[in-house]
Amino acid sequence: MSVHKEVKKVTTHVLQEMKTKGEKIAMLTGYDFSMAKILDDAGIDIILVGDSASNVMAGHETTLPITLDQMIYHAASVVRAVNRALVVVDLPFGSYQGDSKQALNSSIRIMKESGGHAVKLEGGHEVVDSIKRILTAGIPVMGHLGLTPQSIYKFGTYTVRAKEKDEAARLINDAKLLEEAGCFAIVLEKIPAALAKEVANSIEIPVIGIGAGNEVDGQVLVSHDMLGINNEFNPRFLRKYHNLYTAMLTSFESYIKDVKSGDFPNEKEQY
Ligand code: KIV
Repeated sequence: MSVHKEVKKVTTHVLQEMKTKGEKIAMLTGYDFSMAKILDDAGIDIILVGDSASNVMAGHETTLPITLDQMIYHAASVVRAVNRALVVVDLPFGSYQGDSKQALNSSIRIMKESGGHAVKLEGGHEVVDSIKRILTAGIPVMGHLGLTPQSIYKFGTYTVRAKEKDEAARLINDAKLLEEAGCFAIVLEKIPAALAKEVANSIEIPVIGIGAGNEVDGQVLVSHDMLGINNEFNPRFLRKYHNLYTAMLTSFESYIKDVKSGDFPNEKEQY
C-alpha cells in the first residue's frame, strides 16, 4: 500500500472549473526552490515564475534585462519543489516579440529545459499570432493586459492604465482576442476595478487581477512584496502579510552581535 497521499494537481482545466464554480484562484510569484516549496505546501493554485525576478532577485530597475536562460534557471528551481501548483513562466522581454517562430522556440525551451507547465506573455492584438503558434505545440498560454512592465519605456510610468474610455475599449477588445486565440487565463494589472469586472464578465476564461479590484476570478501578488521584504514598495493595491524586512534585519543583527561577542556557538551548538 502506498503511503503517499494522492495530490490533485492544478491544471488549466481545473482553473476553468474554478471560474465556472465561482471559486477564486490564488496565485503568487516564486523564483527559487525553497520559496516554491512553502508556496506549494500552503496550497497556492498557481506559482508564477515572473520576470519580476529581474527586480526582486537581480536588483534591476525594470523587467527588461532578465534573459531567457535566467528565467529557465529560476523556473527549473521552482518546478523541482512543486507537487500540486501549476507553474507558469514569463517569456522575458526580447524572447517573443520578434515573430511567432521566436515566440514558439522560446516557449519550447522553457517547457523542455525547466519543466514548467505554461508560459505567460504581455500584450493584446500584437501577440495573437504568437499565442496561436505557441499553442500549436500544445503549450498553454496566459495573457497579460493593462500595465505591461515590459513596455515601461513606451508608457513612461507605472500608473493605473485604461482610465480613459478609448483605452478601456481597446483593453476589452484585446481580452476577447486573447480568449479567441486560445489563452487559458489572463492577468489584468493595475486597471480600474469596474473595468476589470467588465472584462471578467465578458470572457469565459479566468481573469486574475493585480491592482484590479475584487470582482475578477483570482488574485496575484509578487511574494516578496506581500511578505514585506522590500519596505520601500508600498502601492495602494498591495496588502502586506508580514514585515519580513524587519524580521530578517533583526535576526541578522542578533547573529552578528552573537558572533562578535563570542556567544555563538555555545557548548550545545558544537561537537
Ligand atoms: O512578473 C510578474 O511578477 C508579473 C506579475 C506582477 C503578474 O507579471
